[in-house]
Formats: sequence, structure tokens, C-alpha cells
Amino acid sequence: RRRVRIHHLQQLKERGENWPMLTSYDMYTARIFDQAGIPVLLVGDSAANNVYGYESSLPVTVDELLPLVRAVTGAAEHALVVADLPFGSYQASPEQALGTAARFMKEGRAHAIKLEGGKRYAAQVEALVSAGIPVMGHIGFTPQSEHGLGGYRVQGRGDRAAELLADARVLQEAGAFAVVLEMVSADAAKQVTAELDIPTIGIGAGPDTDAQVLVWTDMAGMNTGRTARFVKRYADLGGTLADAASRFADEVRGGSFPAAEHSFN
Ligand code: KIV
Ligand code: NA
Repeated sequence: RRRVRIHHLQQLKERGENWPMLTSYDMYTARIFDQAGIPVLLVGDSAANNVYGYESSLPVTVDELLPLVRAVTGAAEHALVVADLPFGSYQASPEQALGTAARFMKEGRAHAIKLEGGKRYAAQVEALVSAGIPVMGHIGFTPQSEHGLGGYRVQGRGDRAAELLADARVLQEAGAFAVVLEMVSADAAKQVTAELDIPTIGIGAGPDTDAQVLVWTDMAGMNTGRTARFVKRYADLGGTLADAASRFADEVRGGSFPAAEHSFN
């Protein structure tokens, strides 16, 4: 298998084949997900919560995300690696967006970047695409605007669906290669997916998007706290690790580790 490219994702949409995307923030998960055949890995600004333990994605910085991007791109042999531009690193101007995105491409070796917002950031998307940087859009509930949106609320319901579709169209027009739809009504996501030529990637957007993304720590049960309704847990890694740690602790305290086979003489 060769490197996944943006035109491959376009071909999947044309063939009507759904595809998966996961977040990744480190070398082991990047390698494992890559070998499991996940075609797109996102180094999300959700690293704020899932690596750094912040209460939201707002505080995380470019300098905190860059080493994670570098680790993931270094480990993923096939997957297309998308780096998320964090809050405050692209909103001011297309020039600011280009400066930040260039760091993710040069220092992080990312293959594409993602930024949040529709119409308002069309100029940023155009500037990056002109510079040869593939851009993934992200609309619906956009966590970096949590405070402006009044908390975690489903977007695109009722007469707001037209606005969502307009934002999606502007992103496509500006040259985005795909667009994430987060926490939008299944009907609105279905409509956007049908009207766009580029792939849609849903998270809490129902079954009719072209792709689905989940945050890996949520879907693998590393995050043992409360998760959103749209998360499905495919494993209990948190429980497995806790069990491994406590058995190790017990064996050290009880003197049964290390045994002869773990020792040199
Ligand atoms: O940061 C992130 O994990 C994301 C996905 C949920 C799309 O933006
Ligand atoms: Na994000």
C-alpha cells in the first residue's frame, strides 16, 4: 500500500465507500492505527484534553501540538496525517494561517491541516490551498467556539440547516478537500453530504456522511470518564492498563517480580 492522498478520498466518495478516521497523538497509536488500515489520522487539538489534560481545546498551543504531529507523521507509513490548527493560530488573517500551517507542514511533516469555521475563514482556506497545503474544514459544533456557541449543542437543526449547507459550500468552493461535520442533526449531515462533491466526515452527525471520525481515547476507553452520546467504546484500554499496573504493583510488593527469567546472572 502506498501513501493515502486526497484524491483517494475523493475516489472513495465517488464509489460510495465509507471510510474511518481516528485521532492520534503519538507514535504507538499512529503505528497501530496505520497498520489497522485507518486511512486518515488527525492530530487533533483534542490533544489539549487527551494529552495535556486541559479542560477544553482552547489553551493548547502550536508549540505543544508540533511534537505530537512529528511523532505521528514519523510513525504512519500509509495514512494521510492531518494536523489541527489550534485556537488563535489562524483566525487573525490568511497570513497568520499560512505561517502556522507552514510550521505544521515543515516542522511537523503533516500532509494536510484542519481548521474550524465556514464562510468566516474562506480567505484562510484559499490562501493555504494556493500555497499547496490541503485543507480539511470543520463546521457544525466547533469546540474552539464553545463559549460563543453557548456550550455543547447540536447544530444545523431546523432552519439552521441552510446556514450549515452554505458554510459547507463555501469551504468546497475555497478548495477544501473534505469537511468535518460535528454534532449536527443527521438530516442536515445527509443533505450536506449529498450536495457536496468533497467528502464529509461525521462525528455525532448520523450514518449518512462519507466518513466517520472518533477521538481514539474515547473509542478505546482510555478516557474512563463521561463521553458524548455519539461515542461508541470499542475497547476498555483504561481498565486493561489499570489492571496491568495494579498486578505489577502487587507482584513487586509481594516479591514475585522479577522472577529468574527476568534476571541476569
Ligand atoms: O480535535 C479533534 O479531535 C477533532 C475531531 C473531533 C474532528 O477536531
Ligand atoms: Na479539533
